Amino acid sequence: MSSLERRALLKFLAGSPLVAGLAPFAKALAADPEERVLASAAEALDVFDLEAAARRVVPPAHWGYLQSGVDGEATLRANVAAFSRYQLRPRRFVDVSRMDLSTEVLGTKMSSPIMLCPIGSTRAMNPEGEVAVARAAKTKGALQILSTQSSFSVEDVTAARGAPVWFQLYTTNNFEVTKKLVKRAEAAGCPVVAVTIDTPAGRNTVTATRMRREDTRVCAGCHTVDDRGNPRGGLTAKPMFAGIDMQGVGLVSASLTWDFIKRLKDVTSMKVVLKGIEAREDAQLAVKHGADGIIVSNHGGRALESGRGTFEALPEVVAGAAGKIPVMLDGGVRRGTDVFKALALGASAVGIGRPYVWGVAAFGQAGAERVLDILNTELRLAMVGCGARNVREISSRSLVDLGPRHGS
Ligand code: FNR
Repeated sequence: MSSLERRALLKFLAGSPLVAGLAPFAKALAADPEERVLASAAEALDVFDLEAAARRVVPPAHWGYLQSGVDGEATLRANVAAFSRYQLRPRRFVDVSRMDLSTEVLGTKMSSPIMLCPIGSTRAMNPEGEVAVARAAKTKGALQILSTQSSFSVEDVTAARGAPVWFQLYTTNNFEVTKKLVKRAEAAGCPVVAVTIDTPAGRNTVTATRMRREDTRVCAGCHTVDDRGNPRGGLTAKPMFAGIDMQGVGLVSASLTWDFIKRLKDVTSMKVVLKGIEAREDAQLAVKHGADGIIVSNHGGRALESGRGTFEALPEVVAGAAGKIPVMLDGGVRRGTDVFKALALGASAVGIGRPYVWGVAAFGQAGAERVLDILNTELRLAMVGCGARNVREISSRSLVDLGPRHGS
């Protein structure tokens, strides 16, 4: 029996009153993997619906880039699993008829504590890439952090956002180049630079490499093209490096130390946030060396293998920062309850990476908006259930700790 005939039979069984009990099972088996899973972004019920929809439209090499962790992807899995260590502890008879999710971090107002993390080359997922994300961030009042490796310039993205974005900085191995990037972001109005410090010297993105090998397409439409129409990768193709001599320049440097914060502060008035802190000592050093904020992050499981979930690292980083600078978190956030739990353990804002990119890949701006709507609704419901009417009322009293073996 061909797969088409098999599906036809299963569809018949799914609709037959004679085998009513088997209908849901037959329906699931009959599903055509080539069919679009969602007709519109509005149909998505959780972010995983958008992941499935994105999977259908993103070609293998780009899907591998998006989903990949490093090595065996234990850190990637730990990020997601870490949130299951805690359950929520509801409270009753609190007047939750008026809820306020808004917050402010380092002078930036946001309609919710959910922020959009920097993702390089978002145009690989949708032709409008970071600009579509910016439009979604605008309609939803969300903070967007733009990658150094963005496929659109900081000026274009800021214009689409209609307000300043934060700029994520890869340090490069040439301070003159770094200075130019920083000055450009500052001139575009960015109030904060988030310096990514978690991948100083390489990594092994196994899934990305495997899927790239399987992908036989020539995706000239997705990348910058050279004058012969061939895809042109590499740093020089990225808009943020336009006009900069990139001869011998790398994105990161293995030799940087804590004095980099002062070097950066000497050339910019932007606030400096460190993205990629996971240890108490480093949080203390960040404060000591003048950082204005921290993002607890492991690059979405794309830096060090066999690491903890970022949510597990959050308490010690919050303790290290000792209330002197705000601590944010990203990594593995897939539910509004994850956001709630991170806020309860001291995060000032919580970032998402892959989930909003799934939305953009599947439905452009509308997809990213839907992701924000879904997560904000889930967060609001968690707050309602725990009797927290605004983010300041969210506290660790709302969490029940099941112990480390319930996390990753
Ligand atoms: C990233 N991340 C990232 N971080 C950064 O500082 N600069 C960058 O250019 C990128 N690019 C990037 C590309 C892709 C495809 C992914 C998945 C991630 C890391 C990102 O900002 C964030 O830390 C994680 O994505 C958060 O984890 P989740 O939400 O993806 O699990």
